[in-house]
Amino acid sequence: MSVRRLAPDEVQPASFAFTPDNLAWARKTIGQYPPERKASAVIPLLWRAQEQHAYWLPKAAIEYIADMLDMPYIRVFEVATFYTMFQLQPVGTKAHIQVCGTTPCMLRGAEALIKICKSRIHHEPFHLSDDGDFSWEEVECAGACVNAPMIQVFSDTYEDLTPESFEAVLDAFARGETPMPGPQNGRRGAEPEGGALTLLDLSFDAAPPGGAMVAEKKVAEAGPSAAALALAAQEEADIKAKLATLAADATPEQKADAVGRRPQGLPVAREAKADKLQRVKGIGPVNEGKLHALGIFHFDQIAAWTREEIRWVGTYLSFPGRIDREEWTVQAKALAAGAPSVKE
Ligand code: FES
Repeated sequence: MSVRRLAPDEVQPASFAFTPDNLAWARKTIGQYPPERKASAVIPLLWRAQEQHAYWLPKAAIEYIADMLDMPYIRVFEVATFYTMFQLQPVGTKAHIQVCGTTPCMLRGAEALIKICKSRIHHEPFHLSDDGDFSWEEVECAGACVNAPMIQVFSDTYEDLTPESFEAVLDAFARGETPMPGPQNGRRGAEPEGGALTLLDLSFDAAPPGGAMVAEKKVAEAGPSAAALALAAQEEADIKAKLATLAADATPEQKADAVGRRPQGLPVAREAKADKLQRVKGIGPVNEGKLHALGIFHFDQIAAWTREEIRWVGTYLSFPGRIDREEWTVQAKALAAGAPSVKE
């Protein structure tokens, strides 16, 4: 584990403040906790500040959040310096590579990935590449050991890497693309390489009544259609061309507004019970949180997204084209149809 210190004064901005959207989101998030427990919002607020500020936390942002939460500065510094999810100095504009160097990943080849980082990015961690596009560091276990070795780039993980596939991921980022996260060796999730070896005689169609579970299983297994992949590629290219005309420091909202229309959100989940959006393959806990912040709580909301809204959300979440590629709306429609039998 490396020493984690604040960036030197010469790169620290004089001040930090949330954008109006992020400020409204922060106030709503703080309101989810009892007033005497509002310090519990410290991690989501730091994360949002980091996303707003080119994926690193300046001193001014840490103090700004401490003031918002009525916390001593030192308490927030302790949080920001403890978790490697928080970056304390400028990171590559295209990718900050966090290479897991804990035992399972090390045994499966993390050392070779670190060697590539040293040769392609910088021989020392926490330094920008010459063009400023990349930076890297070694981190402790990121919880994807079954897919070792792996790296994390901002909110996504790239797993089952070899030196060759890692180079390909870096190449894609260098071209300004967002490569498809997840296993890079063709397997799906953490399933066995080469396909399932157990429970081969299970028939999900013959399972007891439970329409949603059957629908979910079928949708997840179907994989993207050729049409979805073609649409995703076209959308990705189109959106990237539009984003290239924006200022480099455009916020996620500004980028999303440039390419689509924000979907109408709900103030709160209906009947105070949100659907478990993580059942949509491709939505993880981070993006589920972001969708909740947008007022998206239910499968039927996602199922009803228009093309403009898909473009807005995909761009806001920093992966244009992925919603089409993973067919979130198709999945959500199937899940919404079976929702009465599966309560979270
Ligand atoms: S050891 Fe690398 S993800 Fe756990």
